[in-house]
Formats: sequence, C-alpha cells, structure tokens
Amino acid sequence: MTAETGIVQLEDVGLQYGSGPEVLHDVSLSLETGSFHFLTGASGAGKTSLLRLLYLALRPTRGTVRLFDRDVSRLGRKQRPPLRRRIGVVSQEFGLISHLTAAENVALPLRIAKAGAGEIRENVTDLLRWVGLGRELDELPAALSDGQKQRVAVARAVIASPDLLIADEPTGNVDENVAMRLIHLMEELNKVGTTVVVATHDESLVGRFGHPAYVLDGGELVRAGPLEGMRGERVEA
Ligand SMILES: Nc1ncnc2c1ncn2[C@@H]1O[C@H](COP(=O)(O)OP(=O)(O)OP(=O)(O)O)[C@@H](O)[C@H]1O
Ligand SMILES: [Mg+2]
Repeated sequence: MTAETGIVQLEDVGLQYGSGPEVLHDVSLSLETGSFHFLTGASGAGKTSLLRLLYLALRPTRGTVRLFDRDVSRLGRKQRPPLRRRIGVVSQEFGLISHLTAAENVALPLRIAKAGAGEIRENVTDLLRWVGLGRELDELPAALSDGQKQRVAVARAVIASPDLLIADEPTGNVDENVAMRLIHLMEELNKVGTTVVVATHDESLVGRFGHPAYVLDGGELVRAGPLEGMRGERVEA
C-alpha cells in the first residue's frame, strides 16, 4: 500500500480533550480505499476518540489526519460539510434526530443528496424492513428500544452509499442474529466500494468475519494486521 492509495491516513496522531491527559498517543495508520477493518480494544482504549477524528468531529492535538487525500488536521468548521457528506457515521450514542421518525432519519442522507421523493420512500422502506423495522417506520426515536435505534442509525449511515463508513459499536445493543445482518449490510456496501471501519468490543464478531483488525490499548495502536496473525493472540474468536 502506498500512502497515496489510502482513503484515511493518520501520522503520529496525539489527542487530548481540552487540557486533560492525552488519550491517543502516536497513532499512525493507513486505510486503503475499499478496505474493511475492525477496531478493537478494551473500554476506554480510545476507539471512539479515534473514530471521531476520522469523521471530523475532533481535530488531533498533534500529528496529521488525512482524509480523501487531503490534510484535515486543521480544517475549519465551514470546510467540513462537503467531506462529512462522503462519510456515513454510526455513533455509539446513535445520534438520531428526536423529532424525526425512523424513516425520516434514514432518509436524511438521500435528501441531502437531492434524491426524488419516490426513490427515497422506496429505498428507506426496503432498508428498514431488511433490518427488521418494517413496523417502526413512523415511530419517533423515543418510542424505540436501543437495539431498534441502533438499526435505524446503521440504516441511515449506509443508505446513501458513502465513500467511508465509520461505525462505533454498531452491534452493541442487538442480538447475534441482527448483529450478523448489520455486519453483512456493511459488507455489501464494502463490496461496491465503500471503505469500512467498525469499532467493537466483541472479539467473537471480529473472529467471525475475515477482516483485519486494529487493536488499541491505552490510546496506543498495539496491533495492526490481518486477522490470521491475531488468532490466539489478542483477538480470540
Ligand atoms: N468528551 C470527552 N471528554 C474528555 N475525555 C474523554 C471524552 N471522551 C472520551 N474521553 C476519554 O478518552 C479515553 C478514551 O475514551 P473512548 O471513548 O475513546 O474509549 P472507547 O475505546 O471508545 O471506550 P468504550 O469501549 O467504552 O466505548 C477515556 O479515558 C475517556 O475517559
Ligand atoms: Mg467507544
């Protein structure tokens, strides 16, 4: 992999929240366009913090973050939206808009992409049915369980086929069956070109899919490589 082919490149990245302690230390990584990676590590290891850098919710305290071949380390607020629109995000807190129904939440990226009303309705309905929420289309987030909210968040993140999909514990609140379905959905998107990063505690999930995993430990990237090299080490299926 050359540096130019990466959709995401981090070089010696450090991150502090305000004047607090550094929570990411010298993180360097490169994600090739079209790749699928897991990001694992114990609670507090820094997975969410690392993903926030990738979807431009945070800027690094030091080091460089490059996205889509562009240095975004010091990007101003106004420069973010065009890049942000190329990224589908499933945040750990779901981030659904409380006054919009499940279907309206999922429709947002298509509306921003100026898709037609008929196409939006059809795609949204199909996708929500596929994740098992055909009866919840018109519910507000407050009426949904955490697992249902999570499915809405995943549907919203994938519906417009973003260039980069960043999912933070996207299966943390659903049963195994639904978890497999959600990961398969992301794999389908990956097959047609989306670069995918999925953070998860669930090492059995990582073991089940043949994708490489990055491992964070106390804010340091301690292991990066194909799953094969990790079996029997940190990521035991
Ligand atoms: N908004 C914040 N302000 C200050 N410190 C934060 C903030 N968010 C995270 N941290 C700190 O950064 C470190 C890494 O947290 P982070 O949420 O990135 O871990 P994580 O690996 O995602 O954990 P989990 O598996 O529990 O989601 C922790 O020490 C945490 O307390
Ligand atoms: Mg987290």
